[in-house]
Amino acid sequence: MSKNEAWGSRVGLILAMAGNAVGLGNFLRFPVQAINNGGGAFIIPYIVCFLLMGIPLLWIEWSTGRFGGKKGHHSTPFILNSIDPKRRFWKYFGVFGIFTNIAVAAYYCFIESWTMSYVMHSIAGTFRNMNQIEVAQFFERYVDVMKSTTGIPYEAVLFFVICIVLNTFILSKGIKGVEKAAKIGMPMLILFGVLLAIRGLTLGDSGATPDNPNVSAIDGLNFLWTPQFESLWDFKVWLAAAGQIFFTLSLGMGSIQCYASYVKSRDDIALNAASAGFMNEFVEVVLGSSIVIPIAAGYLGIDWVIENAGFGMAFQTMPYLFNNWGPVLAAVAGVMWFGLLFFAGITSSLAMGTPWMGFMRDEFGWSQKKGAWSFGGIVLILGLPTVLFFNQGVFDEYDYWAGTVSLVVFALAESILFAWVFGMGKGWLEINEGGDIRVPGIYKYIIKYITPVMLIIVFLGALLTPVGNDWTGAFSGLVAGDGWTLDNSSIIKTISHAGIHEQIAASTDVLVIEGLKDKIFYTNMARLILVALFVFISFLVYTAYKKRLKTHNL
Ligand code: ALA
Repeated sequence: MSKNEAWGSRVGLILAMAGNAVGLGNFLRFPVQAINNGGGAFIIPYIVCFLLMGIPLLWIEWSTGRFGGKKGHHSTPFILNSIDPKRRFWKYFGVFGIFTNIAVAAYYCFIESWTMSYVMHSIAGTFRNMNQIEVAQFFERYVDVMKSTTGIPYEAVLFFVICIVLNTFILSKGIKGVEKAAKIGMPMLILFGVLLAIRGLTLGDSGATPDNPNVSAIDGLNFLWTPQFESLWDFKVWLAAAGQIFFTLSLGMGSIQCYASYVKSRDDIALNAASAGFMNEFVEVVLGSSIVIPIAAGYLGIDWVIENAGFGMAFQTMPYLFNNWGPVLAAVAGVMWFGLLFFAGITSSLAMGTPWMGFMRDEFGWSQKKGAWSFGGIVLILGLPTVLFFNQGVFDEYDYWAGTVSLVVFALAESILFAWVFGMGKGWLEINEGGDIRVPGIYKYIIKYITPVMLIIVFLGALLTPVGNDWTGAFSGLVAGDGWTLDNSSIIKTISHAGIHEQIAASTDVLVIEGLKDKIFYTNMARLILVALFVFISFLVYTAYKKRLKTHNL
């Protein structure tokens, strides 16, 4: 990115920001989260989290980004520093805003590369005569690189490299390249999404057969859209909803600040931020819930969906279901579905490259090309372990620390910085400066009190998840003096691999034990890589800071 770059048009900016948000999370993560958290039970906490955390954080990130951009900063270390120049530590919090993007891109591009390969296989008719088990096995073989027998040697590695090269090439064109990709990708995504959603919504019970008579797409929609108010008391569902809001809106990552730093100093952000956020919600809630779940429920039944809901469903089940529409339409549907995922993915992964490029440009004078290709190189090195050791848990480990925990930590830090250090008076002026709408006054209080408190609760909730995720039981136990027993999924227990150690202790099968020990080894390796990345970026920030001191003779 070059210092004087700016978005070419308002449409381009909104599409790029919406493209940043709309991603694989909308189509792969949202339906699974919704199903696993009780369908309609999930929707109310989800909407509340959107209004009380999502939208406020969008305004915080857009306004801090534009504020930093005015001072010539395009990545969070020195954007945060410019908000509170007296305290040096903020720039090290800002490291998260580069770290998360690189670490997430490393595994995100792997999924993105599957979509490219699956478009090709849909056109080639690879899935044409496969039954449900064979389609699922195809995916398992695909991600098991060493045993891959998909017809192309080391196919997963090959497509991963192609995907990174493509991302890097577009990034090397700077903001203009990103804007162009969004202008092509977003309309295509919406077109494919609407066509597939129409199919999902009109499938009804036409997928029923004498062997499987009780199936209906409508069951899937009903399951998702019948609100269950008792979920308001289920803390686990709140945590899942908050996590989804973060991931889907790309909050707490640093990419929104980077994009916003290229907004001209007096241009609107109040309406733009809200528009991009609502566009993401339309794609997630309307399109994201109208494709996989109704189509799967329409052929396999809602009980099957509830039992099998998982992130692989999109790859392991959809190509088989498309076969119901005949060979030509199956190929067309495959191209639309995986094409849609590809456009969703690439408009997000491009955003992940921009903070690194902006930082290296601002601090070390690197050209766009150098910034882009170095980003591609780092993502390749960091991503290869997720490709080669996918089944050993490296991918999940990156997703957990970089794609989940880091987002909350960073969002919490920036919301405190914005509302309490910068101050809500100045913050409010920043949000509304040049605004084409006036942000409703109530948000002044939401941003100051409710958003940070919710973030603290979400963080503590993840840190201290009680056993069985039973919050009511845990609080009663605490009051009764029985203490607080942590669940293996809590951050604290995850650090020590408590769940895996328990499985090892409970097993007598030597092979299973070996597999679990391997998993500990590979997840530790993944953690080491992530820590090394964080330390490396912190070192660069430190060096840049020293350089600034020298330049300004301080
Ligand atoms: N916001 C992006 C997604 O939903 C990262 O996939």
